[in-house]
Amino acid sequence: MSLAIICSGGDAPGMNPAIKKFVDYVYKCNKTPYFIYDGLDGLIDAKIKKAYHSDVAGILHNGGAIIGSSRSERFYEKRYRKKAFENLQKHNIDKVVILGGDGSYRAFEILSKEFCISFIGIPSTIDNDIYATEYCLGVDTALNVIRHAVDNIRDTASTFKRAFVVETMGRECGYLAAVTALSSGAEICVINEMNFNKNKAAKHLKKELKEGRRYILAIVSEGTKATQDIKNWLEDEIGMQTRITILGHIQRGGNPTVRDRIMAFEFIIKAVDLLINNTQIQKAVGYEKGRFIDRDISEINSKKYTIPSNILRDLRFLD
Ligand code: F6P
Repeated sequence: MSLAIICSGGDAPGMNPAIKKFVDYVYKCNKTPYFIYDGLDGLIDAKIKKAYHSDVAGILHNGGAIIGSSRSERFYEKRYRKKAFENLQKHNIDKVVILGGDGSYRAFEILSKEFCISFIGIPSTIDNDIYATEYCLGVDTALNVIRHAVDNIRDTASTFKRAFVVETMGRECGYLAAVTALSSGAEICVINEMNFNKNKAAKHLKKELKEGRRYILAIVSEGTKATQDIKNWLEDEIGMQTRITILGHIQRGGNPTVRDRIMAFEFIIKAVDLLINNTQIQKAVGYEKGRFIDRDISEINSKKYTIPSNILRDLRFLD
């Protein structure tokens, strides 16, 4: 039996520990591991190679993914999906582990319906926006990268008596912004999942500024597209000189934290066991209430992730 691993979509710290565990564990189970390089585009272009222990030596601590990734436009077309399937067939691969987000899950759901491929998705995205898992690979590292940046920004903000608007990634999901706002004690958090009441915030902040507050930190999720608007409001309504910092892709890099490494190992073991023990399977693994679980891909792809209610409750610091 041959199993392959592929990264698809945005990379996430924790992919390399997952890739290493995949190779080591598949060999331990007396099966043959393969790499699909450069994501779905690589699969279409037949970039598939047998993997060896030597390929994954010394990669555990690195961010990114040694096998590359891509966002493939071609995969939307059936003729390219057929090519992808034929490439897998050439190596007798009918079971695949996907490190990716919901876009990658959807792509493989279509491929498996057309060509009977078994696959297990491992939630890997700093956005933490996948249904049926509290945790996606890469989130802990991203949150720590952001925390470090925000701690630095606070130093200069307080010295200069300024406001800072820090924009975090996450696409439509406000998880990164929400957890960052909580863990860095920001005064403002703007995410799609929660209404931001400017009047209430203005009253509160003006009072605090009168009492001696020296800086304001606003964390804004990219999906709100409100970064410039919050800056203008802080200057015009609150009366503070304001700077914007867009953290961008630095949030996707960095050495995976201990949590991301350990989660990667557990996700891989669960995924490989499921693939080996089932003839036909289309699922994704997840982490819920302290347990590693699996759910059908059709369920995951048809439902939407929501930020835990305790996080949203704690964010209502102005109420
Ligand atoms: O999905 C991960 C992510 O980093 C999002 O947070 C962000 O919106 C997007 O990818 C950026 O995509 P790209 O790397 O293609 O610019």
